[in-house]
Amino acid sequence: MTLQSLTIRRPDDWHVHLRDGDMLRAVAPYTARQFARAIVMPNLSPPVTSVAAASAYRTRIAAAGCNSETRFTPLMTCYLTDAADPDELARGHAEGVWVAAKLYPANATTNSAHGVTDLAAIRPTLERMQAIGMPLLVHGEVTDPDIDIFDREAVFIDRILGGLVRDFPALKIVLEHITTKEAAEFVTDAPATVAATITPQHLHLNRNALFAGGLRPHAYCLPVVKREAHRLAVRAAAVSGSPKFFLGTDSAPHAVDAKESACGCAGIFNAPHALESYATVFEVEGALDRFEGFASEHGPRFYGLPLNDGTVTLQQAETTVADRVAGLVPFHAGERLGWRFME
Ligand code: NCD
Ligand code: ZN
Repeated sequence: MTLQSLTIRRPDDWHVHLRDGDMLRAVAPYTARQFARAIVMPNLSPPVTSVAAASAYRTRIAAAGCNSETRFTPLMTCYLTDAADPDELARGHAEGVWVAAKLYPANATTNSAHGVTDLAAIRPTLERMQAIGMPLLVHGEVTDPDIDIFDREAVFIDRILGGLVRDFPALKIVLEHITTKEAAEFVTDAPATVAATITPQHLHLNRNALFAGGLRPHAYCLPVVKREAHRLAVRAAAVSGSPKFFLGTDSAPHAVDAKESACGCAGIFNAPHALESYATVFEVEGALDRFEGFASEHGPRFYGLPLNDGTVTLQQAETTVADRVAGLVPFHAGERLGWRFME
């Protein structure tokens, strides 16, 4: 068998948690190694809600080795709260600090206690974003405790997202880390202003992974992985070639003891081998010719940003994923992947 190699335009990660402090310094180089740019989530504690905080965070990311020397550009986001100020948002966008703003329904996930409790509160902000062409990134889950956790994305689409798309027809909306058939169908059928990111874990895992031989905290993220039929629908969307679907790892590292706990944190640290993980999926689906679109073209086109210069190469060769990377448990820990990222 001839071993293939796959060379693509340098890709971007349209959804990542780089954290702060020691964790930032430990994890950011893995993202900078594989990607040219990344949309950096603002769910720090406290969340990144001001231009000054975003700008200072960007400086800390650069100091952690994600800068022009490593040919990496962090793209910053604003964390929307009920108190979001349209003027502050527009100023940050005009100054080139903020590329997009993130809507977390209050308490939907890690560090989202300050999220939006009522969409009515941010309507003026959404109007302004629509006017200035600033994308809205959505964590698409309702938080109503009466709704089963496996249904929270589908119910969000039904109750909230449909109306949002109707009320703001020119607003660019990214439904982040989609996990369901309903999400894949909604985005496919929606106007061109609506797109979605897809993580490696939602392509590889179904909900059995949470309980394989015992409770598996390292397979736990939000939105939680779903039934096999949903995984297959999300996979089909990813490899479809549709420009509405693009790469967003949602790499979300937590310390080992915070994961392996009586109340373990949600989040999967997939940055170290993200491209190898995605490439495995595209290979199995016979869609390697569509990998470059998903990883390197659809995202920048949706955001209205230039495509990257330069290329990266993956070789069809085994990668053994370490049990620990930077002291954390990475996605696919201890497994073998069929592709290798070449420096
Ligand atoms: C993220 C985190 O840990 O910050 N966790 C996760 O499971 N994805 C938050 C998020 O994106 O929901
Ligand atoms: Zn996330």
